Amino acid sequence: MKRTGLVIWGCLLVCLALLPAVALAKTSKETAKCIECHNDMPGVVKQWQASTHADKGVGCYECHKANKGESDAMDHYGFTVSIIVSPLDCGKCHPKETEQATNSHHAKAGDIINTQDGLLGQTVGGAPAVNVGCRQCHGSIVKTLPDGSLDPTTWPNTGVGRVNPDGSKGSCAACHTRHRFSKEQARKPESCGKCHLGPDHPQKEIYEESKHGILYRAFEDELNMKNDSWIAGKDYYDAPTCATCHLSATPNQPVTHDVGDRLAWNLRSPISNRTANWEKKLAGMQDVCSACHGAPFVVSFYQQLDDAVALYNNKFAIPATAIRDLLIKEGVITKGNFDDKIDWTYFELWHHEGRRARHGAAMSGPDYAWWHGFYDIAKNFYTEFLPEAKEACEKAGKPEVYEQIMKTYIESQPEHEWFVKGFDPKRLDEIKKYYEERYHQKVQ
Ligand code: HEC
Ligand code: HEC
Ligand code: HEC
Ligand code: HEC
Ligand code: HEC
Ligand code: HEC
Ligand code: HEC
Ligand code: HEC
Repeated sequence: MKRTGLVIWGCLLVCLALLPAVALAKTSKETAKCIECHNDMPGVVKQWQASTHADKGVGCYECHKANKGESDAMDHYGFTVSIIVSPLDCGKCHPKETEQATNSHHAKAGDIINTQDGLLGQTVGGAPAVNVGCRQCHGSIVKTLPDGSLDPTTWPNTGVGRVNPDGSKGSCAACHTRHRFSKEQARKPESCGKCHLGPDHPQKEIYEESKHGILYRAFEDELNMKNDSWIAGKDYYDAPTCATCHLSATPNQPVTHDVGDRLAWNLRSPISNRTANWEKKLAGMQDVCSACHGAPFVVSFYQQLDDAVALYNNKFAIPATAIRDLLIKEGVITKGNFDDKIDWTYFELWHHEGRRARHGAAMSGPDYAWWHGFYDIAKNFYTEFLPEAKEACEKAGKPEVYEQIMKTYIESQPEHEWFVKGFDPKRLDEIKKYYEERYHQKVQ
């Protein structure tokens, strides 16, 4: 009895002593060297130790090693390393995810110089503002200094469309924060919310307002977000996150790293249009919904969305665009963006409130669809855009251009009739009666 006890204790002690060695056996000798020094940066080492990569023997050296001659290769205490671990590097072990990410709009997000917003950032704002703003979301064009270190005006940066020294595009760390590189973290809406928020694309706020966001907060701990398999309706069923709808697997679809795969509309352009192969993409998104909703619910939801997009396009975006084009053609305002007040008004009409309305409709955020959306669009269109067009025409001595605008785009369109002729007096009487009965108040 005593002897077997001793043997068991002995074995246990030997096992305990071997444990670190077993764990280290997976760590390459190069990585072991990195860690010896980098224990002085304990956060980095601990994050890595808690990652799946550490379990699988993917260490510092396996990711950061570089070849001499690469523009960002640095001599580093006897090793050749680079700071940036680009999609090409990750892609050696994760080719499928890398190919999809590289083909997505995310990878092209760094290409913003020659856009209207680019002019706004670079010229109206200034380069340092672009570095701490636009580029932190869209991605910088990373430049290297002669010793392989990175030009501080272009890095730190993990923008989703970063242009890397090796020519590859994107940053996997945009969503998979280093050095955990965890899929659990990337599945959470906060990961997308670094970029997808604010006045011009408030997906994060819309999601928080939606039933889906409410359910996410209520049942976050029951969503099995650490699971290897994370299939909507099977591994979790309470709520979808951004990842569920745009990236993650369903019983019928694998994970995709191309976030455009399930989008049938472009809801961020001045006038919304269908994406290429939109029917297939629509079917992909509807398949996600069908994990938790019936087909009539989903089809009707999409009808409401499509109707809202059509209203935005036909009532506001198409006429506003045509009116501004006419003002430019007739020489009332200049061709340049942002050098006439009405350019700003027009920009916000589609880029701010116009997107909020469409995004609110697409992701079930009624306050964004209406109060931050269609309400602001209408207010802008009728009380700023049209009056500014009138003023600009008068200032330019071309009042006939405004008359033409009114005739072509407003007076002949039934949806704008109220603006010209006023509201229907019968409707006004009904409204008056309603208020008198409801609040016992006289209303003018
Ligand atoms: C002899 C100690 C030592 C060794 C060995 C070492 N490092 Fe470092 N490393 C440092 C120090 C110190 C820094 C902080 C920046 C500096 O002073 O150069 C650093 C910085 C870095 C940086 C960031 C560079 C920057 O400019 O921000 C990376 C990436 C890095 N090390 C990776 C590695 C990898 C990968 C290995 C193993 C192949 C490794 N290091 C081995 C000491 C070391
Ligand atoms: C799975 C690949 C991977 C592994 C493993 C890895 N890194 Fe990194 N590391 C990255 C990525 C990606 C970045 C972000 C660089 C960028 O794109 O800006 C980074 C950045 C860094 C930086 C510079 C950023 C900073 O915050 O100062 C240091 C230092 C660093 N790593 C050290 C290490 C060390 C030490 C280890 C091992 C304990 C390690 N890395 C393991 C991928 C990796
Ligand atoms: C907080 C992060 C963030 C900042 C800061 C930011 N953007 Fe964006 N930008 C986005 C996101 C997210 C989208 C995609 C919106 C969508 O699809 O709803 C986007 C869309 C765009 C688009 C449209 C791209 C297309 O394919 O239609 C352009 C152009 C653009 N941004 C340029 C800029 C410029 C220039 C700046 C700075 C002046 C800037 N952005 C600042 C996150 C940001
Ligand atoms: C837009 C955010 C985003 C970006 C950028 C991104 N990922 Fe992911 N990734 C995710 C999400 C979300 C998941 C979890 C999907 C799921 O539900 O299983 C994931 C999962 C993964 C997985 C686990 C796959 C599995 O089936 O276990 C790998 C590996 C991966 N990503 C690699 C990459 C690489 C490599 C890159 C860069 C080329 C990258 N990711 C860029 C969001 C992103
Ligand atoms: C040397 C090969 C190698 C490299 C390089 C590498 N990985 Fe991995 N990665 C792995 C392995 C192996 C796993 C575990 C996969 C599995 O178990 O199916 C993994 C797992 C992952 C996961 C899932 C982690 C989880 O939550 O379980 C993500 C996300 C990921 N890698 C992202 C990246 C990113 C981003 C890079 C580049 C910065 C990268 N990897 C570089 C080999 C690599
Ligand atoms: C670091 C910033 C950043 C993060 C993090 C990010 N995105 Fe994006 N996303 C962008 C930008 C910028 C664009 C616009 C790209 C363009 O068209 O130039 C975009 C575009 C998109 C699009 C439109 C794609 C298309 O093909 O039209 C979708 C959908 C999207 N993101 C979803 C997500 C989801 C879901 C996540 C989180 C899992 C996420 N994004 C994380 C910055 C980001
Ligand atoms: C319940 C599913 C669902 C959830 C959850 C969800 N989305 Fe969406 N998202 C959609 C649908 C549906 C569309 C419009 C699809 C289409 O174009 O056909 C959309 C559109 C988008 C677009 C494209 C906008 C454009 O300019 O064309 C972006 C970007 C986006 N979502 C990001 C996010 C982010 C970030 C989150 C989380 C904060 C999120 N989504 C949560 C379903 C969802
Ligand atoms: C993981 C399950 C799940 C997925 C996937 C899912 N939903 Fe939902 N959704 C729910 C639940 C649960 C509710 C709450 C129902 C209620 O209001 O009682 C809900 C509510 C809604 C509502 C009602 C909003 C309101 O305020 O009344 C709409 C609209 C909706 N979902 C649309 C969609 C669309 C479109 C998709 C696919 C793009 C989708 N959902 C994907 C679970 C899901």
